[in-house]
Amino acid sequence: MSDVASQPPAEGDDRKVLTNRQGHPVHDNQNQRTVGARGPATLENYQFLEKISHFDRERVPERVVHARGATAFGSFEAYGSVGDEPIAPHTRAKLFQEAGKRTDIAIRFSTVAGGRDSSEAVRDPRGFAVKFYTEDGNWDLVGNNIGVFFIRDAIKFPDFIHSQKPDPVTFERQVPNRVFDFWSQTPEALHMITLILSPRGIPASYRHMQGFGVNTYKWVNEEGRTQLVKYHWLPRQGVRSWSQADADVMQAQELGCHTRDLYDAIARGDFPQWELNVQLMSDDEHPELDFDPLDDTKVWPEEAFPLRPVGLMTLNRAPRNFFAESEQIAFGTGVLVDGLDFSDDKMLVGRTFSYSDTQRHRVGANYLQLPVNQARNAEVRTNQRDGEMAYYVDDGGENPSVNYEPSIIGGLREAQEPSHDEQGPLIEGRLTRKRIPRTNDYAQAGERYLLSEQWEKDDLVANLIDGLSQCDRAIQERMIWHLYLAEDELGQRVGEGIGIVADDVRHLKPLQSQGWGEAEQRRLDNLG
Ligand code: HEM
Repeated sequence: MSDVASQPPAEGDDRKVLTNRQGHPVHDNQNQRTVGARGPATLENYQFLEKISHFDRERVPERVVHARGATAFGSFEAYGSVGDEPIAPHTRAKLFQEAGKRTDIAIRFSTVAGGRDSSEAVRDPRGFAVKFYTEDGNWDLVGNNIGVFFIRDAIKFPDFIHSQKPDPVTFERQVPNRVFDFWSQTPEALHMITLILSPRGIPASYRHMQGFGVNTYKWVNEEGRTQLVKYHWLPRQGVRSWSQADADVMQAQELGCHTRDLYDAIARGDFPQWELNVQLMSDDEHPELDFDPLDDTKVWPEEAFPLRPVGLMTLNRAPRNFFAESEQIAFGTGVLVDGLDFSDDKMLVGRTFSYSDTQRHRVGANYLQLPVNQARNAEVRTNQRDGEMAYYVDDGGENPSVNYEPSIIGGLREAQEPSHDEQGPLIEGRLTRKRIPRTNDYAQAGERYLLSEQWEKDDLVANLIDGLSQCDRAIQERMIWHLYLAEDELGQRVGEGIGIVADDVRHLKPLQSQGWGEAEQRRLDNLG
């Protein structure tokens, strides 16, 4: 017995006694059991082996993207309306119906490309994933802080992420030649590039950024009428960003600045709030628009499709345990409740497969039994059984030997009312692999540049010059070509910064992977 462990408890020390996971009290947490004080260790030393072997398994794989993040908890309060109108004609989702109705929520903010312990003061999109624990089961709205994305088809996601992650040979972080190589071959990324390399690319904190669902979803009402919907979270705290210089200073001092800011604010009772707004559009192809409403590289103009508020989210609790509530929380775009639905957005369908697939690998087959992921405000009754770490049997207390359906002798039955009736427009088509017809990759990128204030334009240009000056000539030329097609001034200014003029790129042909129409050809003919 060690000297430490053999000490009787100090007077007044009423702390509880340490045990192992079998409930056995631990008398000595300092010394292994050995033959003599200097002797070899014994293999039957259960307490020591349990402690070490559990430690050996402390980590689960980090998320393949969005590994660095912070979770918080709170509630969502519905307004009972959508803008000036009652909400029921638009969606039957119960959480929105009554003014003042509160739903518990969990949120996880994140960066995308870095590892679990990486810096939070980086230029990177921020994740904005909200879990609503509704009475109809959970709803996850898995969004980002920027309203558009780099690609529009899920099949490109692994390549896109590889290009942004460290070099697989040197493990050097975000190598401009790799990042811009992919972007230069991906014209649909241009709109997002003008945002991520602008001041919006480094938020000053998680509290001071917007959130967007990015992909297009649907709302369904009682009659089965569907509408297209896009979600926007607007921070009551306002929107604030850092310049690259601000971020560099912060990064030199601390890696977890956003997490600390969030938890400090909650601890002092300064609870952050975001208003949820939606844009609605009738559920059809909208041939009158010069973009496809299901294309996540585009925004819907707010003049035509105004933002309409539906409720307010307040965060008032930090996690009690980071691993249990942040590392193991699992969001997915397939997690919807009655009255909310998918659209045919080709990113959304791929995302919907990817999330639960990765979570079964990352957290385990029974990840939905963990407290933070449970549908805590709805009853869960399934015939899913067993698997690694099955924590309980969610058979709803029915006949436990009938773990199948249909059955005449008991068990669970199907719900009477189909929650989703036949709905939405009729879709027809042959099986194919084709890009969407209305790609229009340049117009919104150019408009975004022209609508920016002068200091924002200067920041974007400087960031593009900084990145592109580290790239091969062929990548530089192709990027300048794209920038000219978006907006002459942008192409010209960035080109000047790296020694490329319009005549140097005029000869380039459209990419094979690119949609090419009259508008693009006209711009190419008049380039510079
Ligand atoms: C996390 C896949 C696009 C937002 C993840 C994860 C995967 C993934 C595998 C890790 C999940 C986990 O381990 O729990 C994909 C695929 C995409 C895609 C395949 C495209 C096809 C997007 C887009 C957004 C987004 C467009 C924004 C709207 C997020 C967020 C997280 C995440 C916020 C972190 C969730 C958390 O905090 O746990 N994504 N993603 N993703 N993704 Fe995506």
